[in-house]
Amino acid sequence: MCGIVGYTGSGAKQAAPILLDSLSKLEYRGYDSAGMAVYDDETKSIQFQKTVGRLKGLYDRTHGGADLKGTCGIGHTRWATHGEPTEVNAHPHLNSKQTIAVVHNGIIENYLRWRKRLQDKGYIFKSDTDTEVIVQMLDYYYDGDPLKTITTVMQRLEGSYALGILFSDHAGEIYAARKDSPLIVGKADDAAFIASDVPAILSYTRNVYYMENEEVARLTPGAVEFFNIDEEPVQKEAVTVSWDIHAAEKGGYEYFMLKEIHEEPKAVSDTLNPRIRDGHVVIDELNMTDEEIRGIHKLFIVACGSAYHAGVTGKYVMEGLARIPVEVDIASEFRYRDPIIEEGDYVIIISQSGETADSLAALREAKKRGARTLGIINVVGSSIAREADNVMYTWAGPEIAVATTKAYQTQLIAMYLLSIRFAKARGKIDDAQEKALIDDLKALPEQIRMQLASKADIQKFANRYLAAEHVFFIGRGIDYAISLEGSLKLKEISYVHSEAYPAGELKHGTISLIEDGRLVVAVLTQPNLIKKEISNIVEVKSRGAFVMAVTTVGNTEVEKTADYVVYVPKTNPYFVNSLAVVPLQLFGYYVAIGRGLDVDKPRNLAKSVTVE
Ligand code: M6R
Repeated sequence: MCGIVGYTGSGAKQAAPILLDSLSKLEYRGYDSAGMAVYDDETKSIQFQKTVGRLKGLYDRTHGGADLKGTCGIGHTRWATHGEPTEVNAHPHLNSKQTIAVVHNGIIENYLRWRKRLQDKGYIFKSDTDTEVIVQMLDYYYDGDPLKTITTVMQRLEGSYALGILFSDHAGEIYAARKDSPLIVGKADDAAFIASDVPAILSYTRNVYYMENEEVARLTPGAVEFFNIDEEPVQKEAVTVSWDIHAAEKGGYEYFMLKEIHEEPKAVSDTLNPRIRDGHVVIDELNMTDEEIRGIHKLFIVACGSAYHAGVTGKYVMEGLARIPVEVDIASEFRYRDPIIEEGDYVIIISQSGETADSLAALREAKKRGARTLGIINVVGSSIAREADNVMYTWAGPEIAVATTKAYQTQLIAMYLLSIRFAKARGKIDDAQEKALIDDLKALPEQIRMQLASKADIQKFANRYLAAEHVFFIGRGIDYAISLEGSLKLKEISYVHSEAYPAGELKHGTISLIEDGRLVVAVLTQPNLIKKEISNIVEVKSRGAFVMAVTTVGNTEVEKTADYVVYVPKTNPYFVNSLAVVPLQLFGYYVAIGRGLDVDKPRNLAKSVTVE
């Protein structure tokens, strides 16, 4: 999704090179065009530049930013929603006098109404974007007071926005505003920054303010002020970001995705260890007594994409261990399906970014219906983290690659921990069983490392399938949940069409797509289901499929049927996803690499999906 940045400084440092650097740290969000606007102190005017395609184009066109002179500016990477990725549609958008410039992330829902109104008053629109209406509205209401004008416009906008705004008659000032799209403000001694995400400004400052909905910020070199929509000052505390910029850099790996896969053991330990105390699972942040846990009637797990897949696994583990009924929902469905939520229901929202628009809306819907809510979130201070009743952070660290790997792993860990905690409180497991489960959890980081050690074999196998057009993933129970994630990893970065099916369901239609040489990836780790799935493998084999199987060490009978077998170490079957997903992540990665694709920035995708 779009990324916005802004910089204002008092020294000799030029804004444009800093904006380019900050935008480069947001590339992971996905974009198709980019632009910057800088206030030029000599001409006393706003200068801007835009390009379609990669940031490199903007860099070249401005000679690394040198051509845009000035110490105060805003920048943008655009992920097209309204209108094609063209230079005209790229941000910043300016009013016709070029005295106001705006960068925007989000979607303005009532833009057509306002566009028409302003056109009737003689305003001429150049782009197809919803954003242009914002700058024209600012122009229409502007009376020399930026704060008053911005809040006036905010009161008339419907939808979501994070905004960076320059007014040419307020040199050195950046205005920022937010509603339902992420925006942070950074402060250094002689400078101030805005950004969609922390990595963009981490090389310059660690002092970060998280903007709340319907707040406005005024930034001047070394100072930031905040106001609510009624223009009243708001006091805010800065948060010191503890993680290092190196955590958001590639550290010698060719792609962030491979680096992040290698960080899985640490991410798992960091999420797990603080919640194991004296041999018990302790999740303080749940803020729930055993009695309250026993009072839960039903759980809803709501999320999108891979986070949803972690939720599907969570359902099997939670129902198996704690015997609480669980419904797993895709957030974009949940929010509109009029869900039946009753007293004693508990809603868990899983999200790496904590900003996914559908997941945030689902959270609000659940709260509106009276449910107690928990966010399982990776980005500290994100919208869902702030709005959920309680938040359980996953400690994966910054995840940059669009395809999630380590954050997904930590979401699994969070689900395991919750399941154990709930099972214990409900008397479904005793101390000895809890200990055995914890021992298995503690072994996971080392077992993931063992999986990573055989990545060369996976690469060799992947190289045989670079030309594959369709791949099917099958599994039963938790193995089906693993298949969902394996299939998504492959298709999102390699563009190979792939689908995941419950293994027993294939013969109800999809098996007609199995033909000679078709690759079928069968995940079979669940002891009670292995024999059943071997029969499904036989079914596809007899129609010509080539079968890669992922199974647990010791299941040698699988070799008799599958063509290629990947073994994962033994663990409790509830936790096997954490191990079995690793070769599937690597498989997707190496197929994409072999096809010469940009693994970290797959086409059409964004890291954080902040629009509906
Ligand atoms: O930030 P979130 O976890 O809410 O994102 C949800 C999905 O967009 C995300 O998991 C997506 O499916 C992954 N990028 C896939 O790798």
